[in-house]
Amino acid sequence: MSLIKKKVVSRFHDKYILTDTVLGEGAQGKVFVAKRRRDYKQVAAKFIRDKPPYIRKLRKGEFVPDEIYFLDKVKNIDGCLKMLDYYVEKDGCWIVTEYDETSMTLREYIEDYGGLDESSAAYVFTQIVSAFLQMEDAGIAYKDLKCDNVLVDEFFTVTIIDFGSVTELDDLNYFYSDGYIPPEVEDELLNYMFGAVTSWSLGVILGSILIGGEPFEFGLRSRKVKKLIVRRMKKLRCSKLAWDLVSKCLELNCDERPEIREIIYGHPWLGSDTSMSFNS
Ligand SMILES: Nc1ncnc2c1ncn2[C@@H]1O[C@H](COP(=O)(O)OP(=O)(O)O)[C@@H](O)[C@H]1O
Ligand SMILES: [Mg+2]
Repeated sequence: MSLIKKKVVSRFHDKYILTDTVLGEGAQGKVFVAKRRRDYKQVAAKFIRDKPPYIRKLRKGEFVPDEIYFLDKVKNIDGCLKMLDYYVEKDGCWIVTEYDETSMTLREYIEDYGGLDESSAAYVFTQIVSAFLQMEDAGIAYKDLKCDNVLVDEFFTVTIIDFGSVTELDDLNYFYSDGYIPPEVEDELLNYMFGAVTSWSLGVILGSILIGGEPFEFGLRSRKVKKLIVRRMKKLRCSKLAWDLVSKCLELNCDERPEIREIIYGHPWLGSDTSMSFNS
């Protein structure tokens, strides 16, 4: 059933015109390009079929779906998607966010252009990590880090999207997508830690943008994902420093895998002019 053709009397439709352009469709919802009636500003409008009861309170007496609650919480964090508006309606919710037509997801980017050069990859990675550290400081855990959920614009400015799988830091449920799951979660060990899991998924992201492909496409389990990334990085003659950072993030033993704060601060690959360090 097309949402565009359906005549719905709603506050969202009073303010916005949906276009035929669908940006994406996933388990949680469908994302359209829309135009604000007032000034024709282009926005992204995500429809989610989340219905009450909602457990999280945004303002006095106003309960909202988790995705809206957490988008509101990250409103001052650089690198996180900015929510402009939201509408809780009868059959679901509309979330209106910023939209930049030059942006594409990291997955789309590597499909179209292949891997990023090391200095662009370091720039992208630094922005993702910085957003993650700020979210952690705000007590929230982003749990679906993958190339589909990170946008880059023409200057490689990062926007993390999709706050549908965010929880409070102490919530031990996980939502990671296949291919980004570390061994301890895959093996269903009970003692996994959010920080160590995050380091792993950051390592998969960094490896993917350097090798220009997402290893999960081959349906590999975590240990093989690591092998594939490491092998391809060697073949592509990535610098030793890049290789060192990815290997630390993808440490198989979660007790030995450092948290991202420890990995990042002072890692020479992120501070250096990486264009100077290509060698094997
Ligand atoms: N603000 C946006 N700008 C550009 N593309 C977007 C935007 N929001 C979502 N998308 C596209 O739509 C897809 C699905 O959106 P997302 O919020 O990740 O929904 P889901 O919860 O279904 O994964 C994304 O992977 C991306 O391709
Ligand atoms: Mg998504």
